[in-house]
Amino acid sequence: MTMTTQVRPIWWIGDWRTGHVRMIDQLRLPAEEQYLTYNDHEGIAVSITTMVIRGAPAIGISAAYGMFLGAREANAAGTAPWSNLPEVKARLADTRPTAVNLFWALDRMERFVAEWKRAGKPGDDSFLEAYFQEAVEIHEEDVQACMDMGRLGAELVPRGARILTHCNAGGLATGAYGTALGVIRAAHADGKVKMVFADETRPYLQGARLTTWELHKDGIPVTLITDSMAAHFMQKGQVDLVVVGTDRTVANGDVANKIGTYGLAVLCKHHGIPFYVAAPLSTVDLDTQTGEQIVIEQRSRDEVTIVGNRKLAPDGIEVQHPAFDVTPADLVTAIITEKGIARAPYRESLAALKAAQ
Ligand code: MRU
Repeated sequence: MTMTTQVRPIWWIGDWRTGHVRMIDQLRLPAEEQYLTYNDHEGIAVSITTMVIRGAPAIGISAAYGMFLGAREANAAGTAPWSNLPEVKARLADTRPTAVNLFWALDRMERFVAEWKRAGKPGDDSFLEAYFQEAVEIHEEDVQACMDMGRLGAELVPRGARILTHCNAGGLATGAYGTALGVIRAAHADGKVKMVFADETRPYLQGARLTTWELHKDGIPVTLITDSMAAHFMQKGQVDLVVVGTDRTVANGDVANKIGTYGLAVLCKHHGIPFYVAAPLSTVDLDTQTGEQIVIEQRSRDEVTIVGNRKLAPDGIEVQHPAFDVTPADLVTAIITEKGIARAPYRESLAALKAAQ
C-alpha cells in the first residue's frame, strides 16, 4: 500500500500481547504534535468522547482496537476473552452518536466473536491473535478505501480546480489519507488543484486547526476562510466544486456531516457548483431510511461561547450546539465511494455499491 502522506491519527505499536494504541492528540493541533498511548478499552472510549481522535472512520478504527483491548483485559483477568465484550461494546457505543462507523466497527467485531464461537474454536491465544488481526484489517481496509476514493474522485476534478471543503475529512479523520482530502490529495498529485479553501468550521474549528495543518504539511495550497465567507467566494466565481466527508449517509442519500455542510450545499445549488460527498461504504447506513432518523449529537454550549480562554457571550442566554446537520440527497451531485461513484437515485445506486462490497 503506497501513501503520499504520513498524516494519520492512530497506530498500533508492538505485538498483540503487549502492544498499545498510539494517537496524535488532535486537541493540541496545530500548536503541538503530541502523542498519547492507550492500553485499555476505557482509555479508547475517553479518547473518542474527548475528541483526541475524531472523524467518522477514525472513530470506527479506534473502537475496533478498543474491542480487542477489552478482550485482552478479560484474558489477563483469567476469564474468557469474550466474557466482558457486551459491556465493552456498550461503553464504546456510548461515546458519540452520529458517526455510523463506530457502530459498524463494533458490530463487525461482535460478529467475529459469534462466528468464532459458532465454529467451536477455543478462547485462547489463537482467538486473541485473530481478534487483533480483525481490528488491524478494519484499519487497513479504511486506508485502502480512502486511496480508492481518492483515485475515483480525482476524475471529477477539473484542471486548475479551486476546491472548497468543510470540517476535516482528512488523514486525521481516517486510517490515513482522508476521504474528502483523499480526493483532494489524489487530484493534487495529478496536478489539478489550484487552491483549496478550508472553512474554519465554527465552533470546533476542525477546518482551521486540522485541515489547514495537514494540507500545508503535504504542500497542497490552502486558504483558510471563515464559514460565512463561502458564499462570497462562490459569488465571485472562485469556487469550482465542494467536496466534504460524511458521518452517516443513509439509504435515500441524505448526508449527515459537520454542522454547516447543509448551508454549503444550498449555496452550491444557488451558484450551480457541484457538491460532492466522499463516503467510504462503512459510512453508508442502509438500515436508516432518511436523514430525519439520524441522531444528531448535541455538544456543549461552552464550545460556542468560549474561544480559547475568551468568553464571547454573556451568561444566562440560550445556546444551541448541534454538531452535525443533514444535507438532503437532492442537493448532492454525487457520492464518491471506494467501489464507484453513486448518483441519484441514491436508494438504488448506494444499495448496488453496498451489495458489491
Ligand atoms: O466532530 P468531528 O470532528 O468528529 O466531525 C467530523 C466530520 O464531520 C467529518 O466531516 C466526517 O466525520 C467525515 S471524516 C472522513
